[in-house]
Amino acid sequence: MPLLAIETTCDETAAALISPERQILSSVVASQDELHARWRGVVPEIASRAHVERIIPIIDQATNEAGIQQSQIKAVAVAIRPGLIGSLLIGLSAAKAIASSLHVPLIGYDHLAAHLYACRLAFGEELKYPAIGLVASGGHTSLFQLHSPIALQALGGTIDDAVGEAFDKVASLLGLGYPGGPQIEKLAQTGNPRSHRFPRPLANDSSRLDFSFSGLKTAVRYQIWPPGDQHARTLTDEERADLAASFQQAAVESVVAKVGLAIQKTGCRVVAVGGGVTANKALRSALEELGKRHRATILIPPTNLCTDNAAMGAIAWEHIDRNDIADLELDVRPNIYRKKKQRVRHRDGSHQ
Ligand code: KG4
Ligand code: ZN
Repeated sequence: MPLLAIETTCDETAAALISPERQILSSVVASQDELHARWRGVVPEIASRAHVERIIPIIDQATNEAGIQQSQIKAVAVAIRPGLIGSLLIGLSAAKAIASSLHVPLIGYDHLAAHLYACRLAFGEELKYPAIGLVASGGHTSLFQLHSPIALQALGGTIDDAVGEAFDKVASLLGLGYPGGPQIEKLAQTGNPRSHRFPRPLANDSSRLDFSFSGLKTAVRYQIWPPGDQHARTLTDEERADLAASFQQAAVESVVAKVGLAIQKTGCRVVAVGGGVTANKALRSALEELGKRHRATILIPPTNLCTDNAAMGAIAWEHIDRNDIADLELDVRPNIYRKKKQRVRHRDGSHQ
């Protein structure tokens, strides 16, 4: 008897049915990209409204595609943290309603732990613990030491923008659509990644496992619209491609540097990665190279399990195995991993 997993942390409405053997019986994802595209980023209010409209049809579609009746659902699981508060609450309300009407257990799971659990789904076996976890997405750039699938110890995270947010904002500066990551990746294919030497803030600071991307984003902006100028420059296609490629290179190197440092500091030789940005081919191959250099196993799920989906809600079986069942008091934790924004002081005395 499968469990129903519901995922509404940001702007994807998703539902999946997963068997106790972690087999994905169905996985449906309704993207809201077209609703947010004109704003070039997720608008929380629009996301919440779309979740309300879509959640029940998506759950129905997932049960139909799995070939089961709702009465056969053994448990209902929902991502309760982190995420946008309105979006999270809609998934949680749906999960509570279905679990209580079917008289089945309710499980709340962590979205970032679930991103990393996608490795277990993709590679079909338990990871060797302790392992390192890297989540690189639109909302997070976080490193963890994993002691089990559900026991995450934070090693570091971004002190300002998430790496996916930087991709989305640079895409917007370059006049590309939303979400920006895939479009930057495409444009970067024809550009020269060495045409601009953009900053890699914190990448060489071996004392900490934190990331910073807002300075990189600002550096790209200054190339397009130099400080003090009245107008943005008109860029040729070649210049835009060079900026995209150089930005992508700096972002990838910034992420990979800290994964290497985490391997050195912890001695862990298994790295699970997840989150939308790990769909990026340049990042995937840089991580594979890093694995070879450090003799570490880097587990990278296929791209459909990197971006938001509910199949990774299979992690709820780990909670069930540990008898970690919630009740109707279950609540959302939108900002659980959020660090206070910090300012980075540069050698020339300026701040970001
Ligand atoms: O994990 P995800 O689907 O949602 C969040 O939990 O945030 O990640 C979405 C982020 C967006 O910022 C998107 O631009 C980025 O992942 N992304 C990519 C690629 N595909 C998605 N970034 C770089 N290259 C890609 N191919
Ligand atoms: Zn995500």
